[in-house]
Amino acid sequence: METTNNMPLLLKYVEKISNITDLLRTEYLSIYGLRFISASPACGLLYSTTNSPYFISGHLRFRGRDNGRYPFNYLEMIDTIFGKEDNTIEVCSGSVKGNSFTVDINPDTKPDLVTDGQELYEIPNDIFCRWRCDPPYNVNTAEKMYRTKLPNTQKLLKADARVCKVGSLMFLLLGQQNYQMCPPGV
Ligand SMILES: C[S@@+](CC[C@H](N)C(=O)[O-])C[C@H]1O[C@@H](n2cnc3c(N)ncnc32)[C@H](O)[C@@H]1O
Repeated sequence: METTNNMPLLLKYVEKISNITDLLRTEYLSIYGLRFISASPACGLLYSTTNSPYFISGHLRFRGRDNGRYPFNYLEMIDTIFGKEDNTIEVCSGSVKGNSFTVDINPDTKPDLVTDGQELYEIPNDIFCRWRCDPPYNVNTAEKMYRTKLPNTQKLLKADARVCKVGSLMFLLLGQQNYQMCPPGV
């Protein structure tokens, strides 16, 4: 089974760096104003352009996992390209455990904090250096699989950027859509 999720990669307060590729821990190939990055150990190719230096685009292919878990090699790809980050908050954490502070609205998943990821009132500002989030992919999945409402991605991004330090990378895995608004400052 393959998934076709989108992974907007966002940065809090992007003006602090000149190009997102400054943050890479892996080699890239520069050609015709494009910087190409291998998605290894996932399958695919990413690129950034000089006229849009705060975004990475590309095409990735993953083998899916059951129960809506992260696809194979997704987290490994992030760690390979950007390096491991222990001070990570994992929102909508589901089964994810270890090496991150986990947040989920469902107490049965036994996260570090049971709360709504669209608010995070319990967490002070500027704590974490990386944010990952894997909300349900659509209304149907949210209601039938997780018995929740579909979280609003704008609310997630806005509330959750608050708890991240300036310069933090933010990874949001979405369903099948090609466009994602970024709140100001993200
Ligand atoms: C796609 S699953 C995450 C799977 C996870 N990446 C894994 O590998 O196990 C979505 C999770 O989001 C949680 N969730 C749904 N709405 C939420 C909200 N508003 N705040 C926090 N968690 C929420 C669900 O309880 C569910 O565990």
